[in-house]
Amino acid sequence: MFKKIFGKKPDKRVSISGTDIAFEVGRNQTILEAALAQKYAFPHDCTVGTCGSCRSKLLSGKVDAITPFGYTLSREELQAGYILACQAVPKSDVELAVEMDPDIEIKIVNGRIVETRDLTHDIKQVTWEVDQPMDYVAGQYMNVLWPDAPGHRSYSFSAAPVAGGSTRLSTFIRKVPGGAFTEKLFSGALNDSAFTIEGPHGHFWLRDGDGPILLVGGGSGLSPLISLLEDAVARGVTRDAILLFGGRAERDLYCLDEIAAIGARWKGRIDFWPVLSEEQRDGRRFGMVTGDIQAAIAELGGAAGLQAYMCGPPPMIDAAVSELTAQGVSLDDIHYDKFTDASSAGK
Ligand SMILES: Cc1cc2nc3c(=O)[nH]c(=O)nc-3n(C[C@H](O)[C@H](O)[C@H](O)COP(=O)(O)OP(=O)(O)OC[C@H]3O[C@@H](n4cnc5c(N)ncnc54)[C@H](O)[C@@H]3O)c2cc1C
Ligand code: FES
Repeated sequence: MFKKIFGKKPDKRVSISGTDIAFEVGRNQTILEAALAQKYAFPHDCTVGTCGSCRSKLLSGKVDAITPFGYTLSREELQAGYILACQAVPKSDVELAVEMDPDIEIKIVNGRIVETRDLTHDIKQVTWEVDQPMDYVAGQYMNVLWPDAPGHRSYSFSAAPVAGGSTRLSTFIRKVPGGAFTEKLFSGALNDSAFTIEGPHGHFWLRDGDGPILLVGGGSGLSPLISLLEDAVARGVTRDAILLFGGRAERDLYCLDEIAAIGARWKGRIDFWPVLSEEQRDGRRFGMVTGDIQAAIAELGGAAGLQAYMCGPPPMIDAAVSELTAQGVSLDDIHYDKFTDASSAGK
C-alpha cells in the first residue's frame, strides 16, 4: 500500500506485436523516445506529431497524447485505434502493431547538387552526388541539411535503388512559394553549396501480396511512386496496378515517357490515369484525383486484397484515406507519405 502511494511509478512496457521487441518507457517519456533511446528502428521523422511517420496501431493498453493525434491522423485512423508514437505517453503496458524500419544502415554523408532538370513549371528533378554510396528501399526518402538550415527537409528518392547503394541520388522537388529551402534551390543559389544528407528513412515501400495495387500521387508525390514502380518492374512483379495522378492542368503532368516505359515492361496490367482539377481536356479525367478512386478500385476488381500507396500533399492523402476506407480498403493496406512542410505544423 505504502509502496503504491509513495513508490516511484513503475515504467510501462511496450511490446511490438508479431516480434520479440519489447522495451520499457520511463515516466513522461514518449513511446518513440524510449524506442530510439533503446536503439530500436522505430519509424519516425519529425518527432513533433506532424508527419505521421510514427503512426502505430494500439492493440491493447492506454496512452496519453501530448498533442492531439487528430492534428495528423484522419478520423478513420483514430477510430481504428491508430496513435502517434512520438506524442504518446503510455498510461499502462501497451501492445502496438507497427512495421519497424528496414535493416539498412542510416548514413550521414556529404553531398552536392550535380544536375537539375525542369520537369514542370514548379517541379525539378534534382540529382545529388554523395561521398558514400547510400542504399534504400524503393519509396524511402532522405533528409537534407544545408548551411544555415532552420531544420532538415525530406525528399523521396525518385529512382529504383541499385544493389550496394548509389552515390548519385535523384529526387523530384516542388517549389513551395515562400519556402525557405525550395525558393533558394529554384533561384540557383544553392548550386555550389555543401549539403549534409541523412538517410534512408521511411516505411513507404511495396508490401508483399498478390492483390492489385492502387497508387495515388499529386505534385512531386510522383517521385517515390516512380521509384516503387521501377523497382517492382525490375523484380518482375505481376500484380495489376493503376497509377492515379492529380494535377491542376496539363502542364502539371510529367514523367509521361518514364511511366509509359514502366507500362511497357510491367508483367501484369497497369494503367495510368492522370486527373486534372482545373483544366478540361479531351481524353483527360476532370476533377479531384480522389474522385476517381472508386472507379479505379472497381477497375481493379474491388477492394479485396487491394493495397493503396499514396504520396503528396496532406489534404490529398486525408481525402484519399477517407475514400479508400469508404470503399472497403482496410487501413492496414493503406500506405502513405504525407509531404508535410512548415505550414503543416499544428494543423
Ligand atoms: C516524408 C516526406 C517526404 C517528402 N518528400 C518530398 C519530395 O520528394 N519532394 C518534395 O518536393 N517535397 C517533399 N517533402 C516536403 C519537403 O520536405 C519540404 O517540406 C518542402 O520542399 C518545403 O520546404 P521549404 O523549405 O521550401 O518550405 P518551408 O520553409 O517548410 O515552408 C513551407 C510553406 O510554409 C510556410 N510557412 C513557413 N513557416 C510557417 C509557419 N510557422 N506557419 C505557417 N506557414 C509557414 C512558407 O511560407 C511556405 O509557404 C517531403 C516531406 C516529407 C515529410
Ligand atoms: S515522428 Fe511522429 S508524427 Fe512525425
